[in-house]
Amino acid sequence: MPYQTLRYRLLVLVVLISTALAGCTRDSMQPPPTQEIAVIAPASGATLDEGTELFNQYCAVCHGEDGGGRGPFPALNSSQHANMHPDWELQSIVTNGQNSMPAFGAKLSPAQITTLIARVKAWWTADQLAEQEKLTLETPAPTPAP
Ligand code: HEC
Repeated sequence: MPYQTLRYRLLVLVVLISTALAGCTRDSMQPPPTQEIAVIAPASGATLDEGTELFNQYCAVCHGEDGGGRGPFPALNSSQHANMHPDWELQSIVTNGQNSMPAFGAKLSPAQITTLIARVKAWWTADQLAEQEKLTLETPAPTPAP
């Protein structure tokens, strides 16, 4: 093999390897998607007061003042399974409604809905909170259709 050709091949190889390495570095610098999700914390202090007020005004009629549910309406406290939904799903249920659960997106701001979810979480046990946090981190919201 003529020396020129060999040198050219080596050069191509070096370029390919460094491109591959650069690709690796770029990829490994991307944070995993879970790091961008801020899990809603259970409400305390002023948030709990505000959340309880909102809950009594808009939600207690069906879900009960203690979150224990009423008749056919499900409990949101620790007695049932509201914690089996990731945060984005809870937000979506309250914002858009689901089956006979009415939509509140036109009545409440996204911040108020987050406060309500934080209020509901204050009823959950430490185990339920931990389980739901894991679910929220591991089940990212589906990306909306373009
Ligand atoms: C008219 C009655 C009614 C009102 C008012 C209402 N809900 Fe609901 N809610 C329901 C029903 C019924 C369901 C069950 C929906 C289903 O079957 O998919 C539900 C489900 C939910 C769930 C999911 C529970 C689970 O375990 O899957 C959440 C969270 C929730 N409601 C929060 C709220 C919040 C917060 C409010 C106040 C802003 C509210 N709801 C007001 C009737 C109501």
